[in-house]
Amino acid sequence: MAVGGGIVPGSGGKQYEARVTPFVVIACVVAATGGLIFGYDIGISGGVTSMDEFLLKFFPAVYAKEKNTTGHDSQYCKFENHLLTLFTSSLYLAALIASFFASATTRKFGRKISMTVGGVIFLIGAVLNGAAMNVSMLIIGRILLGVGIGYANQSVPVYLSEMAPPKLRGALNIGFQMAITIGILAASLVNYGTSKMRENGWRISLALAAVPALIMTIGAVFLPDTPNSLIERGQKENARAMLEKIRGTSEVDEEFADLVEASEVSRQVEQPLKTILERKYRPQLVITSLIPFFQQFTGINVIMFYAPVLFKTLGFGDDASLMSAVVTGMVNVLATFVSIFTVDKFGRRVLFLEGGIQMIICQIGVGALVASVFGVSGTGSFSKGTGNLALALICVYVAAFAWSWGPLGWLVPSEIHPLETRSAGQSINVSVNMFFTFIIGQLFLSMLCHLKFGLFFFFGGWVVTMTAFVYFFVPETKNVPIEEMNRVWKSHWFWGKYIPDDAVGLAHHNTTNNA
Ligand code: BGC
Repeated sequence: MAVGGGIVPGSGGKQYEARVTPFVVIACVVAATGGLIFGYDIGISGGVTSMDEFLLKFFPAVYAKEKNTTGHDSQYCKFENHLLTLFTSSLYLAALIASFFASATTRKFGRKISMTVGGVIFLIGAVLNGAAMNVSMLIIGRILLGVGIGYANQSVPVYLSEMAPPKLRGALNIGFQMAITIGILAASLVNYGTSKMRENGWRISLALAAVPALIMTIGAVFLPDTPNSLIERGQKENARAMLEKIRGTSEVDEEFADLVEASEVSRQVEQPLKTILERKYRPQLVITSLIPFFQQFTGINVIMFYAPVLFKTLGFGDDASLMSAVVTGMVNVLATFVSIFTVDKFGRRVLFLEGGIQMIICQIGVGALVASVFGVSGTGSFSKGTGNLALALICVYVAAFAWSWGPLGWLVPSEIHPLETRSAGQSINVSVNMFFTFIIGQLFLSMLCHLKFGLFFFFGGWVVTMTAFVYFFVPETKNVPIEEMNRVWKSHWFWGKYIPDDAVGLAHHNTTNNA
């Protein structure tokens, strides 16, 4: 047997009657704009924190340090400032906490209410940030943005997977990641434009977050709720009518019965977070907790948050730094398409393993380049040629992430759970992801200051670890009907012993995703 575990043929799952209706496509496109607000925030803060006017107004000490480049000071430390990193990372801590509240709202009041609440809170945050007069206003605004994102990231993926016909679920799931990357790119383009303004460029950058938020909030008001959510809230008739509408057929008996059954099964599990600790869910628990942790330890957000700051550290000029962020943002969007077209064909493991190796090579390359130019003292500067080589290596690294750990970091945890632990698994996934996004956001500038070029080797070491982990412990899940996933675990060389015999074959025949 292959080390990765047995591969279950993708047959035997149920096929429901379902057309891909324009209605469902529009609903999903609108819902996916939730990814835009997340992406916009990831991409905006790095550019803003590298703008002189912004630094001068809110973080004068950083500004003074940055300008003090006499050639004797370490380049590695010029941006180290805990208040500055708190500006970036406070959002993720807020999102982490909010996602727990969102989970209750989403269950009790429906997915669209969560999206609307998220959009409105986010809007207030954007206004506060755009109007900020002092650091407190900035950070409170950022926290509100975080709460909005916590709500959106909790409800949007659930909404998408419930609305999507089963055979499109993978592609639609990556649609959310696509929206994230478009948001990041939009932010870096906005930063590039506003940095040319004499004053208040940063205000416009921050306030424009209101645009994707408005799209999402207004969209959410008009979105229908999912059949699953309607059943969950006792509205069976409406649920059936909605299911017929989104599937474009009245032949929905089977899927409807499965939705009702799924809702009953999940109602019996009173404490999903306790259930998931049972031995038979060990493979899912371990993988759901490790994947978001590993995703953040690829070091991707060093690039996404701080690309302009990083490029400035490497000696690029202001303009070149912001332009470089636009370039990495474009690579990120384009490379995501690769995963959409290959994920169901070549499978998750091939993408994980290839992407991992490609990232390791780039990280070693960038680390070596930075070491050779800046050494341990951190003095020196890149020539044009070495600068471009570093940028090229970073782009190849971003591409690798964009077709591996980016989309798969969200897709895999969402598809490996049986119904009864799927929702708990999703909360663990989101909160672990947000927690480590916070940690990286908060620690990166200090790490750069202390680990110096070793920072690139540090993340490279983690990518070696996670690639080995995938090789040994993450089985292939492409084309496996979601409710037959237990067979995959059962035939795995390591996880097999955790799965009781009766768990295989007794799987619920239900291919819906119940959150
Ligand atoms: C990650 C983010 C990251 C983004 C980059 C997402 O999957 O969760 O942390 O910034 O990808 O495109």
